Amino acid sequence: MANIAKIFANRAQYMLQVAAKQSQIVPRFYSAANFEFIKTELAGANKNVAVITLNRPKALNALCNGLMKELSSVLDDYEKDKNVAAIIITGSEKAFAAGADIKEMQPNTYPHCILSNFLNDWTRVAKCQKPIIAAVNGYALGGGCELAMMCDIIYAGDKAKFGQPEIALGTIPGAGGTQRLTRVVGKSKAMEMCLTGNMISAEEAEKMGLVSKVVPADKLVSEAIKLGEKIGSHSNLIVQLCKESVNTAYETTLQEGLKFERRTFHATFSTDDRKEGMTAFVEKRPAKFSNN
Ligand code: CAA
Repeated sequence: MANIAKIFANRAQYMLQVAAKQSQIVPRFYSAANFEFIKTELAGANKNVAVITLNRPKALNALCNGLMKELSSVLDDYEKDKNVAAIIITGSEKAFAAGADIKEMQPNTYPHCILSNFLNDWTRVAKCQKPIIAAVNGYALGGGCELAMMCDIIYAGDKAKFGQPEIALGTIPGAGGTQRLTRVVGKSKAMEMCLTGNMISAEEAEKMGLVSKVVPADKLVSEAIKLGEKIGSHSNLIVQLCKESVNTAYETTLQEGLKFERRTFHATFSTDDRKEGMTAFVEKRPAKFSNN
């Protein structure tokens, strides 16, 4: 009996060591308890959709330095976590984010902006390899609208409002508002929004192609999670390649983009998941992707 107990104890110790090793490779626990400006959770039936909620209600989720640092830090974690297939960024019913923190930025000087490379660290969202969905309720203004546009897909609650009101503050958008917005909605509409500071409704944003779907405000996050789950049901590896290819359309000429797409398409033929996807189709069964 004593021997059997020892075998079980050794086995349990071994399993714990393996688990400890795995947890180093695949972090499942985040320093969430230390976050001041965001909340995080894993959602969906397989807990593979990460939901980041901007949580600075008194300032309508104004994007202060601390909030943007926390957002970058949790994205670093999620990017490394093999179990996270898609990420959602959302806010409150009143505000996704009312822009950069005007009170924090008000004393800034030109030399300070240059020397600190102000807003440079905001690009983390746009650089994330995994798909990010912005679930926008309420105000998405200035940096808030720019943050949503850094994401890959925007879903909006029916009362969402988008705008680039920087002009009324005596400045201009500084995190992509004049660039991403123009690429998405065209010159005339982007120019009107940036030069007037006028807000547009969720419905108008959908018509312009800024938003891919408008849903009732209280269904927004659950709809975004469903979307994340659908994306997560495919090979994470191929999803990342596909995202990179779509993003290339923004950053290069048509000829270069088509070349990049073709080569990436060819590259999928070196993966197990491409083989599995096509074999499953031929064998009339669901594919089981391994992300290899
Ligand atoms: N920065 C700092 N604080 C903000 C803020 C912001 N961008 N937006 C709102 N707040 C604060 C308000 O100062 C207020 O705080 P107090 O209670 O301490 O006064 C609190 O949030 C609630 O705001 P309001 O009382 O103004 O709420 P409202 O419902 O009357 O109006 C609003 C809502 C129309 C969104 C209005 O708050 C507003 O116009 N906010 C500013 C929007 C803006 O100009 N954004 C662009 C910022 S610049 C930028 O983003 C540059 C860039 O490209 C990165």
